[in-house]
Amino acid sequence: MCGIVGYTGPAKAAPILLEGLAKLEYRGYDSAGLAVRDGDAPVQIVKSKGRLRALAEKTDEGRALAGNVGIGHTRWATHGEPSERNAHPHVSGAPEDHDRSADPSDVVGVHNGIIENYAELKEKLRKNGYSFYSETDTEVAIKLVEYYYKKYGIGPIDALAKTMVRVRGSYALAVMFRDYPGEIYVARKDSPMIIGVTEGESFIASDVPAILNRTRSVYYIDNLEMACVRPGSVAFYNLDGEQVEKQLTTITWDAEAAEKGGFEHFMMKEIHEQPKAVRDTLHSVLRETETGKEIDLSSVGLSEEEIRRVSQLHIVACGSAWHVGVAAQYIFEDLAAIPVRVELASEFRYRRLLLDKDALVVIVSQSGETADSLAALREAKRLGIKTLGIVNTVGSSIAREADSVFYTVAGPEIAVATTKAYSAQLMAMYLLAVQFARVREEIDAQAYADYLTELETIPDKIARLLEDKDRLQWFAAKFSNAHDAFFIGRGIDYAISLEGSLKMKEISYLHSEAYAAGELKHGTISLIEEGTLVIGVLTQSALYEKTVSNMVECKARGAYLMGLTGYGNYSVEDAADFTVYVPKTDPHFMASLAVVPLQLLGYYLSVSRGLDVDKPRNLAKSVTVE
Ligand code: G6P
Repeated sequence: MCGIVGYTGPAKAAPILLEGLAKLEYRGYDSAGLAVRDGDAPVQIVKSKGRLRALAEKTDEGRALAGNVGIGHTRWATHGEPSERNAHPHVSGAPEDHDRSADPSDVVGVHNGIIENYAELKEKLRKNGYSFYSETDTEVAIKLVEYYYKKYGIGPIDALAKTMVRVRGSYALAVMFRDYPGEIYVARKDSPMIIGVTEGESFIASDVPAILNRTRSVYYIDNLEMACVRPGSVAFYNLDGEQVEKQLTTITWDAEAAEKGGFEHFMMKEIHEQPKAVRDTLHSVLRETETGKEIDLSSVGLSEEEIRRVSQLHIVACGSAWHVGVAAQYIFEDLAAIPVRVELASEFRYRRLLLDKDALVVIVSQSGETADSLAALREAKRLGIKTLGIVNTVGSSIAREADSVFYTVAGPEIAVATTKAYSAQLMAMYLLAVQFARVREEIDAQAYADYLTELETIPDKIARLLEDKDRLQWFAAKFSNAHDAFFIGRGIDYAISLEGSLKMKEISYLHSEAYAAGELKHGTISLIEEGTLVIGVLTQSALYEKTVSNMVECKARGAYLMGLTGYGNYSVEDAADFTVYVPKTDPHFMASLAVVPLQLLGYYLSVSRGLDVDKPRNLAKSVTVE
């Protein structure tokens, strides 16, 4: 979703801003812009619709803009179509001034998030003589800052604080004031923002990769806080305008981790990083003791007593993280005998929650910033229910606010379509389920040891699967002109189907649906016709025959069948036209293996259709608006 970068220091700002925005391209955007100040000269603003490349060309890679302080933005449209007018930065001045290229801006800024009461504020500002040139909520926010700044004759921090009290919604704001050249002011609520400092230079960014080439020392600005960013120094303030102290954090990941490293796309690189992501996540909690291996959740902050007390689980998430929840429900119920409900965060947050006081709400999120997931977490906390985050991004909002955090160790994920973070989340769920089962005495010591041994084999099995990509590439080329695909499965195979189908549609734009195999004949089977691709997921031996029957029903109506199953189940070839086999593992953990060919299928379909694999249209990596 939208990206923010800022710079103040001795160097020329625009090339640094463009470099940072390029690192945020993966988040998804439809227009981009820069504002750069050169001392007292009028601020220079350049915007363009579409790819960042256009903005780079317009500004001669940034060289055409003089000035050592600036802000940049990639926008993912929420209020108003993608266009230059609606692109950020936005200014406090009138549009006419802007067009005459007089300095339109006592205040100029960029914004991530959504100002919910922008219509009401726009009206208020109109009554006070303001006019608007864009359809955005951001322009309203910037004008409101200027309104308070001038009306009360106060400084930037006080003007921002008054604005923060008045607006509802979420925001990360980066603002420059004409009267304070060389400084960038930042305000944040529910939308991520970090500030990096080095000797004599400061950077701001909505996400770490944007500035990782420049510095590893960052501050996380908290909710409802502000900052004044000067070259090489930062001062933080709370809503009362009082200065607050902050700790510098060192980013430990490698800048390499945010580069493609020889792969054509980030998605393929991240698919190949899955064995490591899964192994690292496993080893983050696996301990060797005198009596054997065991899972130690002390870093998560979940005690055995708390595990025993849990009466029900509510797994809440969005997108692929929700699919992890769907798989996890079968595993938790089967192994640990705990009732589980899995919910989309966007639904959970708006219903009357009748949660048991001993329930545990588990929020799953790669970014730790997904707006609906964060809101669901807060709702559970408000009701006094214990929360556990399964989060990949250290220091993110969900990680900081959840009562306990299980960090997945997938490293930064850049491709919009998640792969390694999904796999790491699955591993985290397995570990929790096995530990819950053991602590609650649903499984004995031997079964516990066996499950742990099996979990340790999964990274290598994923690696083996990755050696056999060619057949899927061939298959994808054959089906690259297909119109519809249906993924069917039961139980955990249904959860795998959901993820396989999402991978296909999000990057190859091929319509696909996932159906619980038994449900297909209640309507959807009417869509099956000659040549429709039906992918049957058949990793659960207890349900194998049932799903094969449903596949055969589709074949009778003309479908082309692909089967996805474990080695040994060769009878599937009696029905399927094309079969993909995965190594065997305990049925509870099959999603980790079966998802890999489906990720590859989505990837190769996207490539063979000539699409932008890492940045699919209309999608965003981190969805920070609801
Ligand atoms: C976006 C991404 C998905 C992701 C979902 C939840 O839609 O494109 O890949 O699954 O958000 O994101 P989270 O960061 O909360 O896991």
